[in-house]
Amino acid sequence: MTNDAQPEEHGQALLPAVNSYTEWDPLREVVVGSLLGGVFPDWQDSMVHVVPDAARPVFQELGGSPLPAGHLKAAEEELEGLVEVLEAHGIQVVRPDAAEHQAPFRTPHWSSAAGLYAGMPRDLLMVVGDAIVEAPMSWRCRHHEVDAFRSLIKSYFRRGARWLPAPRPQLTDELYRTGGDAGDWAVTEFEPVFDAADFLRFGRDLIVQRSHVTNEFGIDWLRRALGPDFGVTVVDTDDPHAMHIDATIAPLAPGKLLVHPERYVPHEIFDGWEILPAPEPTLPHDWPMYFCSPWVSMNVLSLDPETVVVESQEQPLIDALTGWGFRCVPVDFRHVYSFGGSFHCVTLDTVREGGPARYLSRPGARDPRPSHAEQEP
Ligand code: ALA
Repeated sequence: MTNDAQPEEHGQALLPAVNSYTEWDPLREVVVGSLLGGVFPDWQDSMVHVVPDAARPVFQELGGSPLPAGHLKAAEEELEGLVEVLEAHGIQVVRPDAAEHQAPFRTPHWSSAAGLYAGMPRDLLMVVGDAIVEAPMSWRCRHHEVDAFRSLIKSYFRRGARWLPAPRPQLTDELYRTGGDAGDWAVTEFEPVFDAADFLRFGRDLIVQRSHVTNEFGIDWLRRALGPDFGVTVVDTDDPHAMHIDATIAPLAPGKLLVHPERYVPHEIFDGWEILPAPEPTLPHDWPMYFCSPWVSMNVLSLDPETVVVESQEQPLIDALTGWGFRCVPVDFRHVYSFGGSFHCVTLDTVREGGPARYLSRPGARDPRPSHAEQEP
């Protein structure tokens, strides 16, 4: 079915329908999530390590109920604002389908009071070169989240993309660790699970953190599914609440890594890279945060290796990035923060310029600039 894989016009460049190897190459097309119809997730115990303490009773009492209307409306307006900014930069924006998130569902082994939302495609989907990977997510309420993106994925497939859905996880009780020691991961090795947002792409190399939603089995599955053209390196992070690496490490350009000042653990693959610890987020302490920490301030989106979209009120980060040579595009996004992420989380970059270069240090190859000699012909 790749016979209709004709290059498409994206800006001035002719590129495949899906083509994205890094987090920073010039962006041509992007999926922006939608929070419309979103609901609070049905509580499951494996969430205890990752959601803010204040959210636990909310999920336990209101799981399956609509997200608060006023805050949600403001977040949707912020998402529309992001879409306008992206389009003004000549970037094509596509959106998920409307989906029914409030419907309960069950399998032979468990049930969920509802779904969640279609707001964070980064958690669910990953583009690696010309392939779209569907992640096997471990939160039961997210089991059908891909439905809102399926017509898009089918369209990309028809236009030549490879489509790699991970094995459908059973999500039975064996997957979840109960009564473990502090420091144990919430998911066992029962079956492959991961969230796509635990991975970052550096050309032919990906990095991944082990987390409360990503196990070794899942990492092994992805490594083998991608094949020998790609390397997948597990990096340590110092984060007892680990879930999604993109508020811990943010590669903004070849050789430039924005990092969380405490969670980042140096790794030899970044030898030769400049490391910038992100300044403290500016979010007020009483701002409602249901899913994540204020450090989604560093969850920025690169439009190209010189340009990043940053939350308007994160002035210390804007100053630090500007001083580092970047052009910052400020966008209001605090209401979106409340529902679990920022610009990197709410997007999936389906088309960027560039190809499968190598950027990370390996023995004998310590220059982070792209090694064009290693690009595919
Ligand atoms: N789990 C990450 C955080 O809350 C996104 O900072």
